[in-house]
Amino acid sequence: MKKLIVGLFVLLPTFAMAAGPSVPLMKAGNDLTDNASLQRGAKLFMNYCLGCHQMQYQRYERTFRDIGIPTPVGEEQLIFDGSKVGSHIKNAIDPDDAAKWFGAPPPDLTLISRVKSPDYIYTYLKSFYKDDSRPFGVNNVVFPSVGMPHVLQELQGVSTAITEEVEEHGHTVTKIVGTVSDGSGEMSDDEYDQAARDLTNFFEYVGEPSRLESKALGIKVLGFLFILFILAFLLKKEYWRDVH
Ligand code: HEC
Repeated sequence: MKKLIVGLFVLLPTFAMAAGPSVPLMKAGNDLTDNASLQRGAKLFMNYCLGCHQMQYQRYERTFRDIGIPTPVGEEQLIFDGSKVGSHIKNAIDPDDAAKWFGAPPPDLTLISRVKSPDYIYTYLKSFYKDDSRPFGVNNVVFPSVGMPHVLQELQGVSTAITEEVEEHGHTVTKIVGTVSDGSGEMSDDEYDQAARDLTNFFEYVGEPSRLESKALGIKVLGFLFILFILAFLLKKEYWRDVH
């Protein structure tokens, strides 16, 4: 019994940590039917993320086709390492080296929107803040002690944490409740939000490319049912004409 109680006390903090970030996630508000947004997201990914993160289950060709980029345009503007358009979206980074540099290997992002959630990715991209105690000078509100540098800092500017004093179990603790940019980035706050939303949108599409198809199929099915309804209606009219 004693062991059990001690065990519980040892386990408790682990559960508390597993409960995740104390801040609520922001709503991504992304739209999978918005091709322009998906295309901007793809461009941001190829430029800012592919250096470290792969999408090893996703092919360039399929991506271009699904989100409406003509193959020659995609080949010219979005493939930077001479890969064939039929190949998977990969980089040449050695996971062991990366783990040494960043303390953790950059995960494959093909399924990240399913493993986490679109709202999480959106919030994560908006939650880096200046923290000089970290190796790259930044930390993240929803991913404390994150290994990833803030690669979009040139777009967002330098963000600092907004803190709040809260009462917890009888004493005051300082909690990080958000971040604010100093405006030194290339983008305004709204533009950066949109960039984070476009990236999130792209990740959600890559995680479930079939959703785009099922949406398109859903519209076709509705169209078919509508035509069927009209035909049935006309047929009924025709059928009853002689009865009245
Ligand atoms: C310089 C290398 C590098 C670049 C470039 C980079 N990342 Fe990362 N990223 C990492 C590393 C390393 C981790 C693992 C962090 C950890 O486990 O501490 C990571 C983790 C992540 C995660 C997972 C977070 C989680 O909760 O599991 C996401 C999402 C992510 N990165 C998105 C992006 C996006 C989007 C871009 C491009 C805008 C990007 N990364 C660019 C190195 C990079």
